[in-house]
Amino acid sequence: MPGGAVPAFTGTSSGPVIKPKSARETVPAIAVAAFAAFGGILFGYDTGTISGVIAADEFRKDFGTYYPYNRPDNDLTINPPKAGYALDTATKSLFVSILSAGTFFGALAGAPLADILGRRWGLQVAMVVFCLGVALQVGTAPHQDALFVVGRVFAGLGVGIVSSIVPMYQSETAPRWIRGAVVSGYQWAITIGLLIAAIVNNSTNGRSDTGSYRIPIAVQFAFAIIMSVGLFFLPESPRWYVKKGKPEMAAKSLAFLNSTDVDDPVVRSELADIQTNLDTELTYGTGSYRDCFRNNDRKYLYRTLTGTWLQAWQQLTGINFIFYYGTTFFQSTGQSDPFVFTVISNVVNVVTTVPGMFMMERVGRRKLLIWGALWMFLCELIVAILGTTASTGNHGAQKALVALVCLYVAGFASTWGPAAWVVCGEIFPLAIRAKALSLCTASNWLWNFGIGYATPYLVDTGAGKAGLQTKVFFIWAGTCFCCAIFAYFCIVETAGLSLEEVDELYSQVTPRQSGRANRELRANRSDLETNAFTGAPVLMKEDEEVSADYVKEDMVKTAQADA
Ligand code: BGC
Repeated sequence: MPGGAVPAFTGTSSGPVIKPKSARETVPAIAVAAFAAFGGILFGYDTGTISGVIAADEFRKDFGTYYPYNRPDNDLTINPPKAGYALDTATKSLFVSILSAGTFFGALAGAPLADILGRRWGLQVAMVVFCLGVALQVGTAPHQDALFVVGRVFAGLGVGIVSSIVPMYQSETAPRWIRGAVVSGYQWAITIGLLIAAIVNNSTNGRSDTGSYRIPIAVQFAFAIIMSVGLFFLPESPRWYVKKGKPEMAAKSLAFLNSTDVDDPVVRSELADIQTNLDTELTYGTGSYRDCFRNNDRKYLYRTLTGTWLQAWQQLTGINFIFYYGTTFFQSTGQSDPFVFTVISNVVNVVTTVPGMFMMERVGRRKLLIWGALWMFLCELIVAILGTTASTGNHGAQKALVALVCLYVAGFASTWGPAAWVVCGEIFPLAIRAKALSLCTASNWLWNFGIGYATPYLVDTGAGKAGLQTKVFFIWAGTCFCCAIFAYFCIVETAGLSLEEVDELYSQVTPRQSGRANRELRANRSDLETNAFTGAPVLMKEDEEVSADYVKEDMVKTAQADA
């Protein structure tokens, strides 16, 4: 549909007028979704730890080859030239990227697990598989590369399942007015996991025994156990119960999430909304994989393509070049302590995700994705220009490079990092949600794998490698620019809508019209919400919060009309 005139948006929120929920009443829902974010720690830690593991001397001794002279094509870290143990490019690529291969299949397996066993039991299965993978990696004897790789694959399967089920579970349990912030909490947990990995690597890396790489790997058991125990106390997703034809269980779960009882109008109205939407969705198909690609008037195909490409572009921002190869890359550019760089970039990643969580609701998903991509484009471009023109001896320029990389990481962390997960968690109708979301997550891991595998070949020097070194940032600048174009043309503004309203929005407007339609839909709502931070009642509007007085007036009018 061309841009230009915005058609009047006809969608309205269904259900009776219900009393506003106070922020306190939604505490259980927020707590549940926030705990689920813990899965992000597993994800972040597991992906982050490998960069330090492959840089540890003991690991190189146990899994690398001894080179009596400098072979610059072997490993970026043998710089300045010296003899020593090193991992060749192929081994390094394999150890880093094989996890993503496991996660790819794990993400796909997440859909049947979440649909058949439920979101919670699906996650429990992930914990078992993950622990098996960790045990294999910890127990592998030196030079048993194959076994280590199998361990990485199993851990990857576990992380993959987690990464497709957690955002789904969170989106299905969080109140809509704070859903974006809550799902961003998952991304925040990913960044915390990455930071913990950097810190643990940094503190074990000086050891002269196998603890230098076995400890960082074994730490992951702790995360899995915490997650697994916590899952026993979480309620199942009410939307999964509805899908399974268990409305009374769904009502119980909704009542728990809303701190109320099953007969509360809030529960009944939400249950009715979920059921009505599912019934409508089922008239479009049975919710099969084929349905994800159906070009119907609810735009299933369009949504699936948006989600899968959103995740692909998130990886194409080049973020994991920093997190996977940052340590070794900055070692090669002459930084005195590359581990310190790794810790700094990770702290930036954690801290700047927080404003992203707030902006997710206030600014909206669409604008955040467009402006975030342009910011990253600018940073990457300057890094590329500076990196290719300044000499490695120019300390000022080297420091500026690190600062710019941190600004780039901040741009990612506050926009594309969380937004990719938030958007994918909420754009799919219930009937196909698990399957479509798992396809999106699988796309994230596929690109993650491809980029992780190809990057050393692009960056390293030597026969059969492109030797781009710092010039690789020109590629990331280009892809970030494409990210902005993609967001402008493809992302629909879903902030503040219930998952059922998102459905209506998709079927009625184009991405470029969606900001306005979203505001209209929220303004036309009959029910009232509370401000996420002050607890004050407000009408959910993107650009203006209606004052408490106005709301009171509105409530009185509604009550009179009802009477
Ligand atoms: C991405 C990961 C990345 C992480 C960095 C996530 O959203 O999917 O690939 O390592 O953010 O914080």
